[in-house]
Amino acid sequence: MKSYIVGNWKMNFSVGESSVYLHKLLQKTRAFRDIEVVVAPSTIALQPLSLQIDRKKIRLAAQSANAHDFGAYTGEVSCTQLRGIVDYCIFGHSERRHLFHETTKDIRAAVSAAIRNQITPILCLGETATERTFGETYDVLRDQLLSGLSEVSSEDIHKVIIAYEPVWAISTTSEAHLAAPDDVSEVVQFLRQLLTDTYGKKIATSIPILYGGSVRPSNAGAYLTIPEVNGLLVGGASLIADQFIEIIETAKRVKS
Ligand code: 13P
Repeated sequence: MKSYIVGNWKMNFSVGESSVYLHKLLQKTRAFRDIEVVVAPSTIALQPLSLQIDRKKIRLAAQSANAHDFGAYTGEVSCTQLRGIVDYCIFGHSERRHLFHETTKDIRAAVSAAIRNQITPILCLGETATERTFGETYDVLRDQLLSGLSEVSSEDIHKVIIAYEPVWAISTTSEAHLAAPDDVSEVVQFLRQLLTDTYGKKIATSIPILYGGSVRPSNAGAYLTIPEVNGLLVGGASLIADQFIEIIETAKRVKS
């Protein structure tokens, strides 16, 4: 299976800055068969960047999208509108769940809207610090995974990507709050087993599971060498082109 290195820029960079960054990334990366490099800029930058991008090297993702195709949904952008502009879209990011109160119902409808519009959904899952403390991690993840995928048909289920991002490990500067690779490994094995029990082994082994949460050049190798991890969802470090490139290079080394 391919490895995916996805940079989530969140609400950063002007359109001009996004374009300059992409230019640098295009110059410094070459196409590599087993690695898919994806960047997720702000919605406003997607269309101009889609004209600049070389899809053999880098793909675009949206950070979120509405489940409806068109209509009276002020401020929203639909998968139908994003079709042809992006190849991927992130759904269920913890910031969308917790800061913008996106519900499971919103997320599952949007995941199936993405598939309907030929966009690969990257479904994010993750427990909060409190849920972890109370031993609820697996219950939370089971619920987020199964409900997030519940509107996807069995023929389409192989088109999804899962990203495990423990909320407590996102954007931390403290080494103590980084997720230990052994813990990530346990969770990812749990997710793989859940996919196997629900969809069968063949489909389960074809679904990429990414890890995200304070990934940096210094720890990317440790997460990428976890057997069941098929890539990384990078926030802060993806804002610095040199760091993101270092992470891509690490993925290439691990892969070869
Ligand atoms: P950080 O890498 O900044 O922790 O962000 C992770 C994330 O939320 C990516 O979607």
